[in-house]
Amino acid sequence: MSTRISGTEGYAEEARFLVERWKNISFESQHQIVLDLIPTVTSKVLDIGSGIGTDAAAFFAMGHQVVAVEPTEELRTPGIELHMEYGIEWLDDSLPDLSILRARKEAFDVIMLTAVWMHLDEVQRCRAMPVIASLLSAAGIIIMSLRHGPVPNGRRMFEVTAAETIELAALQGLQLVLNIRTQSVSIENRIAGVSWTRLAFRR
Ligand SMILES: C[S@@+](CC[C@H](N)C(=O)[O-])C[C@H]1O[C@@H](n2cnc3c(N)ncnc32)[C@H](O)[C@@H]1O
Repeated sequence: MSTRISGTEGYAEEARFLVERWKNISFESQHQIVLDLIPTVTSKVLDIGSGIGTDAAAFFAMGHQVVAVEPTEELRTPGIELHMEYGIEWLDDSLPDLSILRARKEAFDVIMLTAVWMHLDEVQRCRAMPVIASLLSAAGIIIMSLRHGPVPNGRRMFEVTAAETIELAALQGLQLVLNIRTQSVSIENRIAGVSWTRLAFRR
């Protein structure tokens, strides 16, 4: 078993159930609201906290080069197996520091943080934003979603506001290009009172 990374609590234990559930989630339905922000020319995409690689696989299928970062081995391994036919590069690395990735000194045109940011506490979020900004190419975009509502049992999750995130991004010279609050696409989550904030930033 991999070392437990702060923010990943609960995922390894529930991985078998989550893999089955997430396998049926379509990228298009999940990301309808941001589809027009995705570059149409081949780009370098970084998917942080990629789970089983739903976003990573969709980007690869669109013709992009994709690096998927996922610290929970119990999700990363099924993700690798599920998308074996794709040339996604998988990394065992984690926020807030992304030390392995940063050491490579690469820049990405799209950085996805889907349902990940609210797993970091305030100190970690303050540390992570400059790291993410440093990985963004000059014309790149950061697309993120924040979950609001009840916290599933065993998970470590914080109520993170759009305002705080926008402020942290602004400190790194990142401009807000999208800020939309939506209901959950999943009926189950909607009934449970889950909603989402979708944010996107450019330099
Ligand atoms: C709700 S899942 C989202 C998975 C995927 N992005 C998706 O939308 O299908 C949250 C993911 O964040 C990962 N995660 C939690 N803490 C993390 C951290 N400190 N660094 C990187 N990823 C983390 C978990 O392992 C899990 O895969």
